Amino acid sequence: MEKESFFIMLMLLLVIPWTLQGKAAVSSVKKKDPVKDCVIDTKNKTNNCQNTTALPIFNQTVTPKPKLAEFQIEQRKTISITKDDLNDLLDVYMTKLAENAVAINEKEHEIDQLQSLNKTEEDHMKKYQELSDACNAQNVSFATVLNEKDALIKNLRINSSIIETRLKRKQHFMSIYKKLNATNTATIRDLKKRVLYLEARLKERKDDLLADWEAATDSCLPHGNSFGIHLIQLPDFRPFLVPCDGSTVAGAGWTVIQRRLDGSVDFYRNWDEYRKGFGKLTGEFFIGLEKLHRLTTFQPHELYVSLKLFNGTKRYALYEDFVIGSEAEGYELKLLGHYHGDASDALRTHDKMKFSTYDRDHDEFTHMNCAEHHHGAWWYDFCSRSNLNGKYFKRQTDDAQGIFWERWYSYQSLKSVEMLIRPKQS
Ligand SMILES: *[C@@H]1O[C@H](CO)[C@@H](O)[C@H](O)[C@H]1NC(C)=O
Ligand SMILES: *[C@@H]1O[C@H](CO)[C@@H](O)[C@H](O)[C@H]1NC(C)=O
Ligand SMILES: *[C@@H]1O[C@H](CO)[C@@H](O)[C@H](O)[C@H]1NC(C)=O
Ligand SMILES: *[C@@H]1O[C@H](CO)[C@@H](O)[C@H](O)[C@H]1NC(C)=O
Ligand SMILES: *[C@@H]1O[C@H](CO)[C@@H](O)[C@H](O)[C@H]1NC(C)=O
Ligand SMILES: *[C@@H]1O[C@H](CO)[C@@H](O)[C@H](O)[C@H]1NC(C)=O
Ligand SMILES: *[C@@H]1O[C@H](CO)[C@@H](O)[C@H](O)[C@H]1NC(C)=O
Ligand SMILES: *[C@@H]1O[C@H](CO)[C@@H](O)[C@H](O)[C@H]1NC(C)=O
Repeated sequence: MEKESFFIMLMLLLVIPWTLQGKAAVSSVKKKDPVKDCVIDTKNKTNNCQNTTALPIFNQTVTPKPKLAEFQIEQRKTISITKDDLNDLLDVYMTKLAENAVAINEKEHEIDQLQSLNKTEEDHMKKYQELSDACNAQNVSFATVLNEKDALIKNLRINSSIIETRLKRKQHFMSIYKKLNATNTATIRDLKKRVLYLEARLKERKDDLLADWEAATDSCLPHGNSFGIHLIQLPDFRPFLVPCDGSTVAGAGWTVIQRRLDGSVDFYRNWDEYRKGFGKLTGEFFIGLEKLHRLTTFQPHELYVSLKLFNGTKRYALYEDFVIGSEAEGYELKLLGHYHGDASDALRTHDKMKFSTYDRDHDEFTHMNCAEHHHGAWWYDFCSRSNLNGKYFKRQTDDAQGIFWERWYSYQSLKSVEMLIRPKQS
């Protein structure tokens, strides 16, 4: 209902009591009773004056065709209106009111609908918020998973690079190994050849030795002026090899029993080694005291000592007899025959002396180890006028530890030395 018409209706409602009063004033003479409580019932058309306030306005049935009322406005500003007119008028307003009520209902309904829509909207908003929250949470966890995957990928990349490096290194080593293997294979082939060659040589040598064995002698005499290594056999003694040298100025049939040449063999050795002998028969060596004992006691021997100085001068000392005692006798120099030569009789003072090594002190000094003092092994007395098993010096010195022969008075060291024996022929 429009505001304007609503206002008009209100105005009319106010006008009604006023007109009723006017009518009363016309019909009854100046009756002063208030007529405000009169109500018109449209149904049975009676004028029932009661309290208007209690009237059920909206429950009125509406007649569809309202009649227009006529208003007569007099000079005294009284309005003359018939009861029917009034009823018509009321009908009109009631209709209007009913219409309005319907309209209001509709509006209210509309509002209800809107509110319910608003509520639905709110629910949707809420739902959306929840969904959004869930989505965000999922996004966060998804981001975490992504980060983890990233880290994993990084780690895998690092690992794969490490593996690649290792693989490269392995390949590198593999190539080196293959090269080495090839070299080794070649070396092994060479060695096999060499072994075959040496086996052949050994067989030859063995054959030679067997021949030698058959031709074993008790001295180098049978080998005359030749030079070579030969087998010596003596009674009750294991056969042994010796260098035979008949090519020197001393003549034929000599057996080399000691040789110093270059210092390649250490001569500072103990009793046991001097007993057995040591070194190389083709180079520096000592034959061994036991063999010396056996040889010189089996038959009479002479001794030839060959000396060479650093200035190239050669000297010799020849002894007509040479006998070495048993180990029980301390390998004593039991017999030393007459001296001949151009060196000196430097072995003379050692006659009847026992052999001494640093670990077997047989010398004449009580508080001195001559073997230690002269760094050698000899038939020391007080201590020595000769020291052919001393320390080898590569140049001439005056060292008491050196190889010396007393002819030159100081300890002048010698360049090379050889001791040889030969059975006495006369
Ligand atoms: C008029 O209406 C009143 C109230 O509805 C009712 O009590 C009364 O009987 C009615 N009169 C006639 C004549 O219908
Ligand atoms: C009418 O209204 C007056 C004042 O409002 C009240 O005192 C009276 O009881 C009412 N009459 C009826 C019949 O309701
Ligand atoms: C009419 O009045 C009755 C009681 O007299 C009530 O139950 C009903 O709701 C009313 N209708 C309207 C439209 O006001
Ligand atoms: C719709 O809801 C909002 C807040 O939830 C409220 O402020 C607004 O007044 C509501 N509208 C209606 C038409 O109910
Ligand atoms: C999801 O997270 C990423 C980074 O963590 C961000 O950039 C993006 O805006 C987020 N998306 C939503 C819909 O929250
Ligand atoms: C990478 O290597 C390390 C050690 O070798 C190992 O502990 C780790 O699990 C590896 N990472 C992956 C992703 O394989
Ligand atoms: C090493 O060399 C031998 C002989 O040539 C060959 O049989 C073997 O396969 C080689 N090994 C490798 C790992 O190359
Ligand atoms: C070598 O030295 C010895 C002893 O000192 C000496 O008698 C000899 O004459 C020297 N020989 C030469 C060739 O110098």
